[in-house]
Amino acid sequence: MKFELVGELAAVSSLELVVVFLDGELSRTLPEPVREVGEAFRQRVEADQAKEPLLVVAADGGGPAYLIHAKKLAEDENPGEGLRKLAVAVVERIRKYGYRRLAVLLDGSEGGRAAPLLVEGLMLAGYAYSEYANKEEDLRGKLEVFLVGAEGLSSEELSRTVTISEAVNRARDLNNAPANQVYPESFVAYAEELVAGTGLKVTVLTERELEEGGYVGLIAVGQGSRRPPRLIHLSYGEGGELALVGKGVTFDTGGISLKPGRGMWNMRSDMSGAGAVLHAAYLAARLGDAPPFHAVICLAENMPDGAATRPGDIVRYKNGVTVEIQNTDAEGRLVLADGIIYAQEQGAKVVLDSSTLTGAAHRALGERYSAVITRHDELWERLAGIAEETGELVWRLPMPKEYEEHLRSTVADTSNISSVGLAGATIGALFLNKFVGEGTRFIHNDIAPCAFLSKPRGVFTVEGCTGHGVRNYLRLIQSFAG
Ligand code: BES
Ligand code: ZN
Ligand code: ZN
Repeated sequence: MKFELVGELAAVSSLELVVVFLDGELSRTLPEPVREVGEAFRQRVEADQAKEPLLVVAADGGGPAYLIHAKKLAEDENPGEGLRKLAVAVVERIRKYGYRRLAVLLDGSEGGRAAPLLVEGLMLAGYAYSEYANKEEDLRGKLEVFLVGAEGLSSEELSRTVTISEAVNRARDLNNAPANQVYPESFVAYAEELVAGTGLKVTVLTERELEEGGYVGLIAVGQGSRRPPRLIHLSYGEGGELALVGKGVTFDTGGISLKPGRGMWNMRSDMSGAGAVLHAAYLAARLGDAPPFHAVICLAENMPDGAATRPGDIVRYKNGVTVEIQNTDAEGRLVLADGIIYAQEQGAKVVLDSSTLTGAAHRALGERYSAVITRHDELWERLAGIAEETGELVWRLPMPKEYEEHLRSTVADTSNISSVGLAGATIGALFLNKFVGEGTRFIHNDIAPCAFLSKPRGVFTVEGCTGHGVRNYLRLIQSFAG
């Protein structure tokens, strides 16, 4: 998609579609019949007589079609969400009618403020995973969009928005990619290429270095696979306070605690936390003005071969905690524990992990909200405020001390699963918290609910991986400045 800022509609030739916002004064540049129809439609919308606020007005004598939006965005509870929904609706029409060259007329609708949200919406909604199949729905690289009347929007801000949306789509591509393409070593190669030249320092721990370093969780999870585990440390500047830690299980069979076959294929997206963390780190570094920070990515493939970890195996983590691995399918927490330890070794004082950790979070929240679990109200409020703006929604779940007893093991300090089978998302957070030292503030983001969608929902009008977290974490990193 190419976006261009232009002063007036008349400056663009051969348009196929003009998207018009009627929430302010109707633009003088519209042809008279369109203006009349639009005005009548606006009255219907205002009188609550229209099912939706969108109207297509057909082309007149070979001119463009008009797509008229006649609802005051300011009336929406969240104007960002309103604009995103609109972008989704526009993309639906573009797909249906095959438009390629369009203008968006922002006249009278606080154009400069609305434009970035629309650009983002068009780019995110226009995505489809098309690496292995020719997908008409994938609009990337196919559209020319002229923004008319985006007053106050600089070309720098426009290009920042494009960069961010492109990175979200790249994260989706990475997370959607099958596990025969993306495995720990190839993830590392991708990450190195992505962040080259951004100022991020990249350190990669190989299997041997992980073993020597005592990162037993990554080893325990990765040892049943022919694809060895890796840890990536990205650091930006010196003395970063914040570390993002991503679960990068490139495929999760469950290991010896094998998952049922039905639906197992979508466990190729079990590295969505890692994908989100990687692309947020890339963006923060590339866009500039970011404070120092760390990103730690824990990569392993959870497979059940003769060398695999068995249920009941016990490992001793670097911080001294011993874990009885009662279920090898609760592997995300095992690799993340190493990532959390590693982040603190680097000096991080605030640790956020992003992980497709539990089916329980998915069942509890559906596909629009990811789960946030923390004991630190100020971290929750910070992330919740960000999510409100990005539309990557979050919901807080509790983290009570008294549930810790469900993790009890008779032979080790802790089990990796609950003996009770309730509050699964909270149990995951309580397990991870055992690796958080004094003086470190911890916030857990279980993105299993919305990392992978069975059906398009809301602004994420895509099937498969959504890139949920990229834009939240970018802003979270930026919020640590100054
Ligand atoms: N990767 C899964 C969690 C998951 C499930 C993500 C569904 C996305 C959609 C995770 O490793 C897992 O298997 N969790 C188990 C934990 C259980 C064994 C305590 C689960 O949720 O069933
Ligand atoms: Zn699992
Ligand atoms: Zn998993």
